[in-house]
Amino acid sequence: MIESLALGKHEESRQGEVFASSSAATVPASRHFYIESYGCAMNFADSEIVASILQENGYGVTRSPEQADLVLLNTCSIREKAEQTVRKRLSEFRKAKKSRPGMLVGVLGCMAERLKGKLLEEEQLVDLVVGPDAYRSLPALIAEAGSGQKAVNVLLSRDETYADISPVRLNSNGVTGFVSIMRGCNNMCSFCVVPFTRGRERSRDANSIVAECRQLFEEGIREITLLGQNVDSYHFFDEQTEISVSFAQLLEKVAAIDPLLRVRFSTSHPKDITDEVLFSMLKYPNVCRYIHLPMQSGSTRVLQLMNRTYTREWYMAKVNRIRELLPDCGITSDIIAGFCTETDEDHRDTLDLMAYSRLDFSYMYFYSERPGTLAARRYTDDVPEAVKKARLAEIVDLQGRLSRESNQADVGKVFEVLIEGESKRSHDEWMGRNTQNKVIVFPKTSPEQKKGDYVMVKVTGFTQATLLGELLPPNIK
Ligand code: SAH
Ligand code: SF4
Ligand code: F3S
Repeated sequence: MIESLALGKHEESRQGEVFASSSAATVPASRHFYIESYGCAMNFADSEIVASILQENGYGVTRSPEQADLVLLNTCSIREKAEQTVRKRLSEFRKAKKSRPGMLVGVLGCMAERLKGKLLEEEQLVDLVVGPDAYRSLPALIAEAGSGQKAVNVLLSRDETYADISPVRLNSNGVTGFVSIMRGCNNMCSFCVVPFTRGRERSRDANSIVAECRQLFEEGIREITLLGQNVDSYHFFDEQTEISVSFAQLLEKVAAIDPLLRVRFSTSHPKDITDEVLFSMLKYPNVCRYIHLPMQSGSTRVLQLMNRTYTREWYMAKVNRIRELLPDCGITSDIIAGFCTETDEDHRDTLDLMAYSRLDFSYMYFYSERPGTLAARRYTDDVPEAVKKARLAEIVDLQGRLSRESNQADVGKVFEVLIEGESKRSHDEWMGRNTQNKVIVFPKTSPEQKKGDYVMVKVTGFTQATLLGELLPPNIK
């Protein structure tokens, strides 16, 4: 289930299997793979690259690990809990291997990169370990592992973007899709493991991004999220035309494919989001009025230790600028409670900045020290767990209030909603999102609508995470 659009959406909300659509295999396969993905949307998108590489090499996909010759876990290292979840799952597969010794188990993604051969050698949990830039070598590694050798490739690359690989859409709802526009991260936020697991930042060829988006639109996809750890630093130099493409320009190219194609993007770093991007949003109404702008902390002192390179005032100014140019824009965030040295006063600054920013929604975590990061090397993880948890509870409470206020303000408003499918609760209701990325559920009062349609919906109420509405006749805007 791909519910969140922000990056790093994470082991808590994004965990679970992804399956290939039935259109995937063209040749009957004699061997089958099963893949489970954890972590952020980029990792889910990578699983679709992996599926494509494996299919090219004669592997069919299966939904059932019991039928798989190859079980792959595409893993996340962002917090300790994410890794624990994967380790538990790996020990389940190790047990299963006892009765099926021919089955291979592989770890892909960020844990593969972080732990490298350790998973093979010390813990004997897996047969192959493949880092995020080494997926092209999967067929060779599977062959090695199949002949009893330990197969590892965790080389990071400066230029791999998998631009030429056409992803096999896994678990697609047929309406929304994700497209990776860059890989890696150069930011070195002190708490974060991503620069170590994903390597240097590199931008994918703009032409291949636009071609993939166009193809998705032609296949019926109506909403695309452009993915990168820091989309505002996207920069591609087109050698054919000798023209550089910035993120704002890329956004416009994708938005220009068709007015019926909604475009989202994630994640925006508060230090990098520019007016140019906001103006591109203004120019194209099909670029969604939604910005995920991770704050992490509201204390300038803590932000400095986090190496976020902006201040509390800078974040305020960005929020003000967004609201000035795009008054109806949804703003959401990521917050970390209890980073090294955080005091009660720092914590109150975070609560205060959240309220100031009137965040519509946040992903909230307590700090989890990651080995090898700048924070792990330089600072002491000195906020007691009980204090971290108490602060996180206050942050969650406040966000609950802010989200309720935001939803209350929507009651009575009319939104254009893209129908994504039936609601989980009932076959008699549709579920979709408005441009601000809020989920809206409404009864199927007219037989004409189908998945992928845009409809006008009036909000009549809300539950904790969902707006409730009623369908309006098509001529009302
Ligand atoms: N590139 C994105 C975030 C990617 S990671 C950005 O810069 O905003 C997603 C989120 O996980 C981060 O925004 C942060 O809130 C959280 N996170 C990252 N490392 C963490 C850690 N060590 N402990 C707790 N939360 C962490
Ligand atoms: Fe991690 Fe910071 Fe890069 Fe985001 S911008 S992935 S938090 S280092
Ligand atoms: Fe994503 Fe987790 Fe890696 S958030 S980049 S899968 S550490």
